[in-house]
Amino acid sequence: MTASVRKIVEVLNGKTVSPPPVWLMRQAGRYLPEYRETRTKAGSFLDLCYNPDLAVEVTLQPIRRYSFDAAILFSDILVIPDALKRNVRFEEGHGPRLDPIAAEQIRTLDPRGVSTHLSPVIETVRRLRVELPPEVALLGFCGAPWTVATYMIAGHGTPDQAPARLFAYREPDAFAFLLDFLADVSADYLVAQIDAGADAVQIFDSWAGVLGEDEFARFAVRPVRRIIDSVRARRPSAKIIAFAKGAGVLLKNYRQETKADAIGLDWAVPLSFAADLQKDGPVQGNLDPMRVVAGGKALDDGISAILDKLGNGPLIFNLGHGITPQADPENVQRLVEGVRRRGT
Ligand code: CP3
Repeated sequence: MTASVRKIVEVLNGKTVSPPPVWLMRQAGRYLPEYRETRTKAGSFLDLCYNPDLAVEVTLQPIRRYSFDAAILFSDILVIPDALKRNVRFEEGHGPRLDPIAAEQIRTLDPRGVSTHLSPVIETVRRLRVELPPEVALLGFCGAPWTVATYMIAGHGTPDQAPARLFAYREPDAFAFLLDFLADVSADYLVAQIDAGADAVQIFDSWAGVLGEDEFARFAVRPVRRIIDSVRARRPSAKIIAFAKGAGVLLKNYRQETKADAIGLDWAVPLSFAADLQKDGPVQGNLDPMRVVAGGKALDDGISAILDKLGNGPLIFNLGHGITPQADPENVQRLVEGVRRRGT
């Protein structure tokens, strides 16, 4: 079977596929007992990301259980700052920690060595394409420059990214340099993933929702467009999904402005607005991950609402953000069956 018949690729080409292909953000993760077991074996979280044997294994775990239509490379958006020597660590119960970057350090960031540092991740992509069933699409990804920059500046996760917003106002030149720098490094990384066998790539802008209108244009849209232009200049047929979480009405022109093939939607995006966005091309989303925790009617109703409103156009069924550790694996089975039952 060739890549052209993988359902997600068909949708990314603008076709309506029924039932829609389905995968879940963070589908390989702590809600799965087999993930927790491999994770314990790996040592640290980054050791898992850089160990192709184990990263291939955890990527395949949810595919074996649920036959999702896509596998997403197991890695993290913070491997880029790690490759830039920002001392990334994942501490149990604390989320990520990095050395916070100061304005005067930004121009000393060195892109040399990034691709060597990330070569185990590219090796994972290569092996996955060999191991995956031919009908399953392989997705690569990176973080959007704004979202990656928020972690590099604060040195940890924050609820509203106040440190990065403040930094952007106080140090506009250093900040603009950082976004462009991250865009260029990320574009090279995505090209390497595509060359290793990724059918499509997703750009995660998980913190887009804290930006005002002007900042969204400069810090979210522009750098993502820079990545996409750079990737397409080298790989013209590259398929790209852009996910700007929390962007709300600012998503109106996001596809046209970024040139993404598909746009990811979080669960707060009204389905009527999503249907308007879908008139211009494929959308991905947008079930509330809490419906997967709740299960039962809450889950079934959420699936039906999305399929009723978006099922007759190009749709990739997904959550509106990553699945959470407390989700019951049986509810994920119910989700996949619920989506697939509705096909014609
Ligand atoms: O989707 C997948 O299954 C692929 C793997 C993947 C991970 N992180 C694995 C992971 C992907 C695509 C990501 C993206 C990512 N990482 C984002 C963007 C998407 C989003 O969720 O908003 C962000 C912001 C990060 C940064 C990050 N990584 C944080 C804030 C954390 C800690 C929070 C948490 O959930 O613990 C991580 C850790 C992380 N990345 C885990 C996994 C499975 C859990 C860590 C563990 O197993 O110990």
